[in-house]
Amino acid sequence: MTSNEIRQKFLDFFKERGHAVVSSSLLVPTDPSVLLTTAGMQQFKPYYLDEVSPYGNRTASVQKCFRTSDIDEVGDETHLTFFEMLGNFSFQGEYFKKEAIEYGYEFITKEMGLKIDYVTIFEGDEKTEVDNESEKIWKELASDIEIKKAGREDNFWGPTGDEGPCGPTTEIYVNGIEIWNIVFNEYNRNKEGDYIKLSKPGIDTGMGLERLVMVMQGKNNIFETDLFASVMEVAENSRIAADHLRGAVFLLADGITPSNSGRGYILRRLLRRVVAKGFGDFMEKTASVVIENYKNFYPELEQNKNKIFEELKKEKEIFDKTLQKGLKEFERGADPFVLFSTYGFPLELTLEIAKEKGIKIDVEKFNEEMKKHQELSRTASAGMFKSGLADTTEETKKLHTATHLLLAALRRVLGGHVVQRGSNITAERLRLDFSHPEKLSDKEKQEVEKIVNEEIKKDLPMICEEMTADEAKEKGALGVFEHKYGEKVKVYAVGGFSREICSGPHADRTGELGKFRIIKEEASSAGVRRIKAVVI
Ligand code: ALA
Repeated sequence: MTSNEIRQKFLDFFKERGHAVVSSSLLVPTDPSVLLTTAGMQQFKPYYLDEVSPYGNRTASVQKCFRTSDIDEVGDETHLTFFEMLGNFSFQGEYFKKEAIEYGYEFITKEMGLKIDYVTIFEGDEKTEVDNESEKIWKELASDIEIKKAGREDNFWGPTGDEGPCGPTTEIYVNGIEIWNIVFNEYNRNKEGDYIKLSKPGIDTGMGLERLVMVMQGKNNIFETDLFASVMEVAENSRIAADHLRGAVFLLADGITPSNSGRGYILRRLLRRVVAKGFGDFMEKTASVVIENYKNFYPELEQNKNKIFEELKKEKEIFDKTLQKGLKEFERGADPFVLFSTYGFPLELTLEIAKEKGIKIDVEKFNEEMKKHQELSRTASAGMFKSGLADTTEETKKLHTATHLLLAALRRVLGGHVVQRGSNITAERLRLDFSHPEKLSDKEKQEVEKIVNEEIKKDLPMICEEMTADEAKEKGALGVFEHKYGEKVKVYAVGGFSREICSGPHADRTGELGKFRIIKEEASSAGVRRIKAVVI
């Protein structure tokens, strides 16, 4: 059976048994307790409690899921980041343990023709009781099946986040692997951690499509199934590249783009790992195959094809530029904060490379430095009108960052005599006055634009550090005007390119700026030139 047939069989089976087939929700979850959708039940979460389900009380779906918890296991036989979860659901007591177990048994043994190794049930603990009912149902249904008991860790599911529906589970094992998790949502856990019995319990099940296909197709690992065969071919048989690129394509199709926080960071981490492992050149080809394989069931892939390719290319270009230099940094001692701030290495990537090279990394120090940087950026954003900024809108912040890049670029092209003499920034344009004796040639202006745009393309974070004025000076930070050097100053830096004493606020990353263009260069006063520029 092909994976497409298996998906369809599952949905048809439950449709015939009165379930409404509901499309997968986005990987950007409706459930605020998680960063990405990790289970089929999430889009139905309210229907287990008070809300009325618009689909009726029986549903089935094939849900796009993404779990970062298994990211380090990717590469073994059965673990993935992105996967599809087949599930059937019952709300408001529509059906419960008996039907759910019978459906599961019938689908696995009759529809799929598989033999169940054994099943597990919840053994109970001080918080919630043993699930004798499920044991009885299994025994009556198939007396030859072995029943094992396990604790909360394995046989109790949910809630996602701090509160919500949850309950004991029964799990079906085939060929030694867990295939199907059937959850009996008979409790609602509240914020205080109490388990309150629901008057009308629900059913939530999840079966990994990739694992089911693996046993159905008699393969030893997920990557040999028809879901992966053609992807593996173009990804040069790298399981990590195949998994990460497949996941990235689905994340991009659902509107997530690489960035330095939240979901965007997860995506960035996947892509940078692929590039660092040397599979960057296969990205586009692999993405095409993924889109081709999945487009019938997930039309959003084809619909967002151009954007997917664009983002993959952009992220590769950005990272390729600094990757080699970053790898050299490892020889100088691999400071994870420098690797992050100057070379855009996610911490996880630094840890991975360090492990390969047998270098120890001080993660605690990194976290401290990150926290300090984030706190400083926040206080800087709260201060207004500090650096010649008319306001603190996103546009103005971007132009402020562009002003720093511009000053650094002018000093490169024209010389170290260039210092800032004044600045005025609105949401529409930046204006920078700087010392220089003569009009800039067209060539000089083009060169300055080119350099600024290169730094934007590198998408480096704007790093804010606090230090004494002397330290700042020593580090070559530029000071604005006759800056009154107090005890401590804030220094904003873009990689090794720009470093200025400044109170912010700034864009988080240079990549946010878009494209930089000089619109006017003119005299301001004797020996002072003025540039007006925009980012588009
Ligand atoms: N929600 C259950 C799981 O994700 C089915 O395993």
